[in-house]
Amino acid sequence: MEEILNQYETVHISDATIWFKAGKVEDFPTNRGGCIKYKSKQIAIFNFARRNEWYACQNACPHKMEMVLARGMTGSADDIPKIACPMHKKTFSLVDGTNLNGDDFKIAVYPIKVIDDEVFVGFAD
Ligand code: FES
Repeated sequence: MEEILNQYETVHISDATIWFKAGKVEDFPTNRGGCIKYKSKQIAIFNFARRNEWYACQNACPHKMEMVLARGMTGSADDIPKIACPMHKKTFSLVDGTNLNGDDFKIAVYPIKVIDDEVFVGFAD
């Protein structure tokens, strides 16, 4: 299980060297998640239309290592956009991946940009 998590590391926009084309805007549901594969990684992508923002994070929930975050519920806590895991409702910031329940695990987040109706996710490897 450790190996699954170890491959996910937050990428800051300034560190992104590869902009992977994840799909078109219409490929992703609004205010919910979609999932793409990049190399061996499953990445959850959120078209957070209520905020007019997009976010990307690992699809694996670090609580029980389930590949489920793309099916979680988006929301906001103190204006921080968040994703709630559909399994046991642990919530994570979509901005920096911190666990908002105070638990000792976090998720990796990735930069995302939309250009001419196409969605790109930034990776460093
Ligand atoms: S598997 Fe995600 S909260 Fe338990």
